[in-house]
Amino acid sequence: RREPVTITVTGAAGQIGYALLFRVAAGAMFGPEVPVRLRLLEVPDALRAAEGVILELEDCAFPLLAGVEVFDDANRALDGASVAVLVGARPRTAGMERSDLLAANAGIFAPQGRAINDHAAEDIRVVVVGNPANTNALIAQSHAPDVPAARFSALTRLDHNRALAQVAKRVGIDPGHVRRLSIWGNHSSTQYPDLSNVTIDGVAGHPRLADETWIRDEFIPRVAGRGAEIIEVRGRSSAASAANAIIDHVRDWAGGTAPDDWTSAALLSRGEYGVPEGIFCSFPVVSAGQDWQVVPDLELDAGARKSIAASVDEILWERQVVQARGLL
Ligand code: NAI
Repeated sequence: RREPVTITVTGAAGQIGYALLFRVAAGAMFGPEVPVRLRLLEVPDALRAAEGVILELEDCAFPLLAGVEVFDDANRALDGASVAVLVGARPRTAGMERSDLLAANAGIFAPQGRAINDHAAEDIRVVVVGNPANTNALIAQSHAPDVPAARFSALTRLDHNRALAQVAKRVGIDPGHVRRLSIWGNHSSTQYPDLSNVTIDGVAGHPRLADETWIRDEFIPRVAGRGAEIIEVRGRSSAASAANAIIDHVRDWAGGTAPDDWTSAALLSRGEYGVPEGIFCSFPVVSAGQDWQVVPDLELDAGARKSIAASVDEILWERQVVQARGLL
């Protein structure tokens, strides 16, 4: 048995928290050999609800759960963390401008970035889930100058998994046969889900996927609009699938991606594929158990470049809003 991994989850009393914590405590992120220690962060008003979640975690008698505590102070919650899952965010309320939403979230993610900088473990890995995820990740990362930027990511794995599922349905196979799909850009409706390198059972392309009309009019809008579809059908936003994607993301980051596959994550651009430096953009990525690496040398046709550029423009606009307000 190894030393416990310390995992901090913010927004722990929310619906993603409720879908995530039990699976993490059961060992879904690091496997059955690795105990986990949970440190939860919530706002003061939700502390009692988070304590209720802790009571239920206790009642599962998870053999791998080496302890769980809740805090309303980011410095304490992130103390010693090797994984930080930043879920808690300010939701958009009626009449709120997008720029005000960005600013309100900067007020959450800047202090959390500082707390990561000052208190997290040397091997910290951060995944930002709370929306707008790409820009929240930039804010957190920019307030953690002593932590390598590659340790920060924003979650686009849910988009990736949604796209895998749609491809599998279209071809009539299980999602496990689909590889090398890419999500580019912002975690928003402007994202670009890209099928151009997809393999099915190791074979490039598939006749059922070669239909440009289906890609443009059905596949891309379905994936990019899936969050809204879930809200409409379920009556609440996606939580279990988001929690599942968080687990997939951290498991593959720490444990490595499959040799003939990649996944998608938003990372701080270093200019890959012409994406300007200094924004978090979703790319196809691999991990060998250390840092995410952007998959190099993929061909992008003019249409793909245009779609990615449009999503990148949205991320640049978001950055400009927080910059103009002095929040970066
Ligand atoms: P929720 O509203 O059920 O829970 C959010 C929780 O965060 C609440 O308990 C709230 O008290 C807490 N919180 C707010 N500010 C906080 C702070 N400063 N520190 C700690 N906790 C704080 O929301 P839900 O459904 O759990 O979603 C959370 C976020 O994840 C939302 O921003 C949502 O848009 C985003 N999301 C992102 C996805 C992605 O793929 N990147 C997928 C699904 C959701």
